[in-house]
Amino acid sequence: MAESMRGLKRSHRCGELNKSNVGEKVTVMGWVQKNRNKGGIIFLDLRDRSGILQIIFEDNEQLMEKAAKLRSEFVVAVVGQVEARSGAVNENLATGEIEIRAEELRILSEAETPPFQVEENSKTKEELRLKYRYLDLRRPDLQKNLMMRSQVATLTRQFLTEEGFMEIETPILGKSTPEGARDYLVPSRVHPGSFYGLPQSPQLFKQLLMCSGCDRYFQIAKCFRDEDLRADRQPEFTQIDMELSFVDVDDVIDVNERLLAKVFKEVLNVEVPLPIQRMTWQEAMDRFGSDKPDIRFGMELTDVTEVVKNCDFAVFKGAVENGGSVRGINAKGQGAMPRKKIDKLVDFAKDYGAKGLAYIAIGEDGNVKSSFAKFMKEDEMTNLIQAMGGENGDLLLFAADKNKVVWDVLGALRLELAKQMELLDKSEYKFLWITEFPLLEWNEEENRYTAMHHPFTMPMEEDLQYLDTDPGRVRAKAYDIVLNGNEIGGGSVRIFQNDIQEKMFECLGFTKEQAQSRFGFLLDAFKYGVPPHAGLAYGLDRLVMLMAKEDSIRDVIAFPKIKDASCLMTEAPGEVDEKQLEELGLAIRRTEEQE
Ligand code: AMO
Ligand code: AMP
Repeated sequence: MAESMRGLKRSHRCGELNKSNVGEKVTVMGWVQKNRNKGGIIFLDLRDRSGILQIIFEDNEQLMEKAAKLRSEFVVAVVGQVEARSGAVNENLATGEIEIRAEELRILSEAETPPFQVEENSKTKEELRLKYRYLDLRRPDLQKNLMMRSQVATLTRQFLTEEGFMEIETPILGKSTPEGARDYLVPSRVHPGSFYGLPQSPQLFKQLLMCSGCDRYFQIAKCFRDEDLRADRQPEFTQIDMELSFVDVDDVIDVNERLLAKVFKEVLNVEVPLPIQRMTWQEAMDRFGSDKPDIRFGMELTDVTEVVKNCDFAVFKGAVENGGSVRGINAKGQGAMPRKKIDKLVDFAKDYGAKGLAYIAIGEDGNVKSSFAKFMKEDEMTNLIQAMGGENGDLLLFAADKNKVVWDVLGALRLELAKQMELLDKSEYKFLWITEFPLLEWNEEENRYTAMHHPFTMPMEEDLQYLDTDPGRVRAKAYDIVLNGNEIGGGSVRIFQNDIQEKMFECLGFTKEQAQSRFGFLLDAFKYGVPPHAGLAYGLDRLVMLMAKEDSIRDVIAFPKIKDASCLMTEAPGEVDEKQLEELGLAIRRTEEQE
């Protein structure tokens, strides 16, 4: 039977009490973590979001009888006296030096046996935890993550407000934004056959706000993208989104470096050395095979195209002749890797599009094992090993293909090897700006260029001349902020000149009419006085994931979705009544299979 808490008022959270409270009478409330009945004495661990507190029941038979009934996850209120621990001090507990001697106990709510134990570092399968997410969220690790997320959001609001940013909300029901993923659609009842698109980001609205003279805008904004989910991607996620007027690249970078430094200092007590290192996209690809390099470790790529271009190994020679390259990485000290493990790396490389992975394993004794030595002359091998900085005990791995494939393969392989070699330290934070991205990306499927960032990104002034003749080589005033190999944010300076914007649409293969019908309101707004402007958006989930040292953004989102974009707890998405469909003018077409 549930009791009322009438007459009681909580005086402290469990984790707030310590030695300095000894002698005080307190009232605490929370969930039963554990109940140990030792006959003459009952020890109760009481939990709330602040921590765990030990309560003892002794000498009072009526009270002990009641306490003996308590089971895990009952919600109780306890009134009692804070005492120094009579038994051993528990060093693992913030409240380990004290306990409460109970004088009153109320059972506020009983609980069925939970489907899994509520405890830190749970080994319970994620599916079960997500089905009962409200229980899962009681676990101290997830509570800590949610608190950290709230703290990051609060500090961000504080900082940006002090920097003259205005927090403005933009619509969720809108038209599609041009970010390139699939939109989530919401049917309109009033306009049957018409749909709202949920925003992939507030991009167009924040640019309009600059046209409106808001000068500096920010928003902690929900965004929606219907794309394949991974550990760092959810169908709905949160951006810290901002836009600034009368600024260029350096201004955006400056305010964001100070924001990051503040957040990391206050939340983690980590100093972010400023300025943050900058690297061009080209350098990042050449050195790390990635536009979001993890620079916590080396193992950089070496371009050996020049060294091998004349050799007889058809794989290398062929790649060079086809305009590609041959590059390698040196896995230091891995020369003794067993053949089976090397074969696994070859399979791994193939998953990333490689046709194979050539290797040279140098034994501690200088003995060389290689998958392609038989095609090479002795001095060619020597030169290659030397170019790679190969020493006794090293494993050299090579990919030969088009540049893009070589980068993808070796970029991924580099990370995989770092994992295997345990080179990654989650408490080390290495930030990096990537700048000078290509403006356009060739899309094989659609046989046209698409915007690498979005169609409103400004080309670099010195490359404007190539927009007509060689659009592929135009670099953009775009930047990403990368942390430990994760893209945590990105943005750009925007086009605000009509002629450049028109050229950009031409490059993207839009007719004037198409551009007008999709982005007409923005183009119109630009006709009435538009300030130069630029902005950036962080993935808040990714940022907090790294700060909390988690591997998945699901661990920093209260109610995340699983891989197929469904929610295991609410079972969304769900079917709707025939009547609802009718009102919307919709009918469901099922494939034979679904029938
Ligand atoms: P972009 O598309 O790069 O830029 O998104 C900004 C940041 O949002 C995060 N992110 C995601 N996080 C979780 N799940 C997803 N599905 C997901 N997709 C993106 C990433 C990314 O860096 N409007 C522009 C910003 C601008 O130009 O100002 C934009 O949305 O961390
Ligand atoms: P093969 O002559 O096909 O037996 O290949 C010899 C070696 O070259 C094997 O170790 C293959 O894995 C490797 N290899 C094949 N294609 C490539 C490629 N595109 N890049 C790097 N290595 C490759």
